[in-house]
Amino acid sequence: MKIREWNKNESLPINLLLLADPSYSSIDECVRRGDCFIAEEEEEIIGIFILLPTRPRTIELVNVAVVKERQGKGIGKELVKSAIEKARQAVYKTIEVGTGNSSLEQLALYQKCHFRMISVDSDFFTKAYTEEIYENGIQCRDMIRLSQDL
Ligand code: COA
Repeated sequence: MKIREWNKNESLPINLLLLADPSYSSIDECVRRGDCFIAEEEEEIIGIFILLPTRPRTIELVNVAVVKERQGKGIGKELVKSAIEKARQAVYKTIEVGTGNSSLEQLALYQKCHFRMISVDSDFFTKAYTEEIYENGIQCRDMIRLSQDL
């Protein structure tokens, strides 16, 4: 698997990005403001993530996604580790990530990659989306924010 920066004149793997965020407008803003990286195997795009500068020396990892057929094989963990390394190389001090209270797999993944929970944005998802979201039998209401010093 090779991870490289996505080139702005290439077509955007939108179906992949939609796995992590159902909102076209929020994807569009992240792509515009952040640096997008893609993981390829034999020229097929199998994963993606975006690094979005938010505050001085702080960067946020957003839109991490792996194609459905390849999930559960360690690719997500490789993407998160690569994002941390890229942020470190770019001399950021802190990397942050946010996920839903019901996103148990994602909460496991980020903590296995040494992120710590720092805050809860209560009712973030209830306010941001009109439709109710359920995962693992739990309503997704709150944004759990995680952080890692670099
Ligand atoms: N409890 C404990 N650990 C769990 C778990 C659970 N319920 N579910 C997953 N994990 C662990 C795995 O065991 C693995 O850890 P390990 O290597 O120590 O075994 C780790 O989480 C990550 O697994 P991996 O195979 O690397 O993940 P993946 O390739 O399936 O990618 C996502 C993870 C989230 C990127 C992928 O499922 C995806 O694209 N989902 C849709 C988009 C999305 O939700 N993005 C995140 C937005 S916040």
